[in-house]
Amino acid sequence: MHLLSKLRLHHELNAIAVDPQCPDYDDDGYESSGSCGSSVASLKSTVHEYIIENGRRYHAYFGVDKSITPTDEIEQDRLDIHHEIMLLLLEGELHQAPLENPRKILDVGTGTGIWAIDMADKYPGSKVLGVDLSPIQPNWVPPNCRFTVDDVEAEWSWRSNTFDFVHIRNLVHDIHDWSKLLSELYRCTRPGGWVEIAEMGGELLSDDGTLADNHPTKRCWDLLTAALRATGREPATGTLLNNILSAAGFEEIEVVAVKQPIGLWPHDKRLKTIGKMGMLNIQLGTEAYCMAALTRILKLSVEAAREICRDGVAAVCDPGVHMYNFFYIAYARKPKRKDDDHDEATDSVDADYDSDDEAWEDETAFGQGLEVHHTPLSARPA
Ligand SMILES: C[S@@+](CC[C@H](N)C(=O)[O-])C[C@H]1O[C@@H](n2cnc3c(N)ncnc32)[C@H](O)[C@@H]1O
Repeated sequence: MHLLSKLRLHHELNAIAVDPQCPDYDDDGYESSGSCGSSVASLKSTVHEYIIENGRRYHAYFGVDKSITPTDEIEQDRLDIHHEIMLLLLEGELHQAPLENPRKILDVGTGTGIWAIDMADKYPGSKVLGVDLSPIQPNWVPPNCRFTVDDVEAEWSWRSNTFDFVHIRNLVHDIHDWSKLLSELYRCTRPGGWVEIAEMGGELLSDDGTLADNHPTKRCWDLLTAALRATGREPATGTLLNNILSAAGFEEIEVVAVKQPIGLWPHDKRLKTIGKMGMLNIQLGTEAYCMAALTRILKLSVEAAREICRDGVAAVCDPGVHMYNFFYIAYARKPKRKDDDHDEATDSVDADYDSDDEAWEDETAFGQGLEVHHTPLSARPA
């Protein structure tokens, strides 16, 4: 039995104080004014590797069912907004694992690559590789950051014991088999290296009963969870993250749970900003997360799914509802080898590790997926 071994509770686990002066969300002073009920605009694309469904562009190259969320510009903007929310939530930290000069970093399901780029800037002595199903990363990146296109649910082509740090964020909706993914991740992590999985909890909550069970925004979240469960995918909890890490063989597991408020209701200024961005996240993300789940999996009509999403977005603009969700961050370590300080076994790991430096220089060898050629910043014209 895997129990949540060490649940390190973040200070925000206390109830978030409500701002008694919280204005009505229709007041003109807020940028969100007027946009609460609007649905997301449709995009047109002629890119044949994608499909357009209900006005959104979805990944198709590795299979339409690989991901339920679109890859279009609206979703890319939302991913970048969520990255900012995470930075605010974690007070500027890009990771919780106690890293010491990581040399090789992998970002699994990198999306727009914004975390990988920030990590490359934070650790200029490292090499950061981001992998995703879709080439939606920018062209101008730090010289120590690269991207590759691949399906991480397939067997990994990277050598064993390669990465000092492997990072996963917001992938829970797309992963069908965590044990297969984690076993490849474990194999490719260096002994003594770290892994971190950061996932949004699937439950919308309130501490003071202001979020009714039949609240339309909560309904969207609950239907999304039902759709994922129907395809064997469980929503993220601290226990789930702890268990998959433990089952893969990782040690020193820590789980941090952080409350992510949604709405302008928190009294604290930082949390109010997070809540405001959380509203925007819901406005941009509800159709992104729910349309494919509700129509493809739960077989609702497009009209019914749209109405559920529209109601969910509109209802998020009620300042009397003090809703939040948890964000879970779990990090853990691959056990060091016995006598790891210096022996033959370690030397052979180091030899493999160093020979990968040459592979890094040869872009096509480092990962054997489709390579997306990004131009390092150092090659920019002056
Ligand atoms: C919700 S986004 C999160 C992006 C990024 N991790 C972040 O936090 O900003 C999920 C990303 O995972 C990618 N993804 C989903 N399944 C994948 C797979 N099997 N292999 C590689 N990438 C995958 C999607 O294409 C999408 O870009």
